[in-house]
Amino acid sequence: MADVRPESLKRITTKALADEFIADQLRAIKEQVGDKKVLLALSGGVDSSVVAALLIKAIGTNLVCVHVNHGLLRKGEPEMVCKVFRDELGANLIYVDAVDRFLGLLEGVTDPEQKRHIIGEEFIKVFAEEAAKLDGIAFLAQGTIYPDILESEQGIKAHHNVGGLPPELDFELVEPVKYLYKDEVRVVGSALGLPDKMVYRQPFPGPGLGVRCPGAITRDRLEAVRESDAILREEFEKAGLAGKVWQYFTVVPDFKSTGIKDEKRAFEWLCIVRAINTTDVVKCTVEPIDYDLMCKITDRITHEVPGINRVLYDYTPKPTATVEYE
Ligand code: XMP
Repeated sequence: MADVRPESLKRITTKALADEFIADQLRAIKEQVGDKKVLLALSGGVDSSVVAALLIKAIGTNLVCVHVNHGLLRKGEPEMVCKVFRDELGANLIYVDAVDRFLGLLEGVTDPEQKRHIIGEEFIKVFAEEAAKLDGIAFLAQGTIYPDILESEQGIKAHHNVGGLPPELDFELVEPVKYLYKDEVRVVGSALGLPDKMVYRQPFPGPGLGVRCPGAITRDRLEAVRESDAILREEFEKAGLAGKVWQYFTVVPDFKSTGIKDEKRAFEWLCIVRAINTTDVVKCTVEPIDYDLMCKITDRITHEVPGINRVLYDYTPKPTATVEYE
């Protein structure tokens, strides 16, 4: 039977409607899980963060959150997850530093699909290993949202939250936001007190910075992606573009060009800045970035990020280009 959003569920556009939804969900979660334990993979993305905040409110430390750092997260992200959930919300949070494990497996791998596959498979393995160490887990919480259900029913994409999990993770699911659209999840997240940085963050792919470090990932080039991305985000924030531009990031391909640093020849990487707008991600336009802002970003990246001597802006819409480079 098709999983359809109930007609009685109003569109959640205000704090009052979000509060009503939260109260209903707290009751439903308590009824479903009782005093049993629930496991959640907490990536720090909007959907899993909102589910975590809801469950913490409902069942406290009976929710066990697992945050896997695969080494491909943005600067400050693992720290923010630990600060918000462990320190501020008192979550029962297991932080797994799997950086060496992922980067080791990815060493020398150049094919984009193989990189994605390795990252996805290893993530499930790490998560399953953590789950196996725990006693008494009865439920698995997931940040499924309504577009995931619609897209899987239309055959556009495999339901990212169903299937693909190993048999030992075959727990009963808890999916409190599965009938919500993204904008509603954000309203609920704000009503739950999550920081704007988390609730209104731009889309970020599962394979993370791995797809923005084209070709074989090396630690130094990955650091150049991470640092240049942090500078771009900081400058967009200061310029008031953070909540306005759909997605913006940097890419550092495995290509070097000649430059001059400290009056010496510097044969270093180039950094590509991408900033796009869209409503459906099927077609995207390029943000007409201000010249002075681009000069400032270029100056900061070339002077602050080791290994980069040149910055380029990508003017290509989708199509012909995709958003990501791999
Ligand atoms: P493309 O590159 O296909 O990206 O134009 C469209 C949107 O999807 C995101 N994206 C991904 N998200 N796993 C994800 O979770 C992935 O492998 C992946 N690849 C692309 C991309 O960031 C953009 O928002």
